[in-house]
Amino acid sequence: MKGLILSGGKGTRMRPITHTAAKQLLPVANKPILFYAIEAIKSAGIEDIGIIISPETGEDVKTTVGDGSRWDLKITYIVQDLPLGLAHAVKTARPFLKDDTFVMYLGDNLIKDGVAPLVDRFNKAKVDAFLLLKEVANPSSFGVAQLAPDGRIICLEEKPAKPKSNLALVGVYLFNNKIHKAIDEIKPSRRGELEITDAIQRLIDTDFHVGSYVLTSWWLDTGKKDDMLEANRVVLDEMSDVSMLGELRDGSRISGRVHVGKGSILKNCTVRGPAMIGDDCVLENSYVGPFTSIGDGARVTHAEIEHCILREKCQIVDFHGRIEDSLIGVNVELSRSNYKPVAFRLMLGDDSKVEVV
Ligand code: G1P
Repeated sequence: MKGLILSGGKGTRMRPITHTAAKQLLPVANKPILFYAIEAIKSAGIEDIGIIISPETGEDVKTTVGDGSRWDLKITYIVQDLPLGLAHAVKTARPFLKDDTFVMYLGDNLIKDGVAPLVDRFNKAKVDAFLLLKEVANPSSFGVAQLAPDGRIICLEEKPAKPKSNLALVGVYLFNNKIHKAIDEIKPSRRGELEITDAIQRLIDTDFHVGSYVLTSWWLDTGKKDDMLEANRVVLDEMSDVSMLGELRDGSRISGRVHVGKGSILKNCTVRGPAMIGDDCVLENSYVGPFTSIGDGARVTHAEIEHCILREKCQIVDFHGRIEDSLIGVNVELSRSNYKPVAFRLMLGDDSKVEVV
């Protein structure tokens, strides 16, 4: 069995952060989301993984992920020239996939239990495709499955205005080689994409066997800022691997599960976990609250930060205020105005979002 991870796309809902980075490389608990996908596939014993990349962010993905040797697996990069849909990505990957069975994993999805239980179910069910479903409050934002009382899939629809159920298609699928013919037989959807949802519907219509399983554990699709914060919250909440590799000075206090990376210095700070502070950070006279991740080389002084992702090298200096529910990019500087007139002085990139009180 092979793995196929999709890490293309433009990440438009995450701008401006994705003007400079692939959305799949954004960190959850200081680790790129994409790494969770790779590790989930590896944990199912799959060691031959293709990663679909886009011409825009592909080099970045390649540099960050490398050749797979750090996980002891083989990675092949496959360029999808245009974002023409998930089924188009599978078509593009055909020379890599050949006729092997494969797990397809959308690189911005996170699931709690990894891929191994799913592979098991797929093998036992002896089906041609296997889907994961999850009850959601907003099914119109996803592919939606309608099930018969015996659990059989009646139909699938991509982002329907009037969803027939609240069961969303999770971005992790298992296929055998029957999917390729089905993809060849479908037409682009209204949004101009070759939808994998339509290809699976085609399998159903032509009497192939499609199995499914409704997840009860968490699933996160990290398409937007608040999804990223939620993913960060959930992963930090389950973090067990914590170590104190930095230095606590001047009465700094730590409670709960807090990881502090090497070379980091905390002076007169209070940190309440779960929280993760990267390497070589300097935190002074500050409070870091639960569900916060701070990237390597960040500097935070006179600030309170809670339920946030701060990326590498960001500088929140003499801020004298509280920041919550925020995603702050690499090298961003935030400070308090200390000359008259007292005012906001901003340099914000295209598509930035600022909410002031
Ligand atoms: C894709 C699929 C959709 C699925 C979703 C899960 O949507 O087309 O069926 O529910 O992933 O993340 P996209 O995120 O590409 O809009």
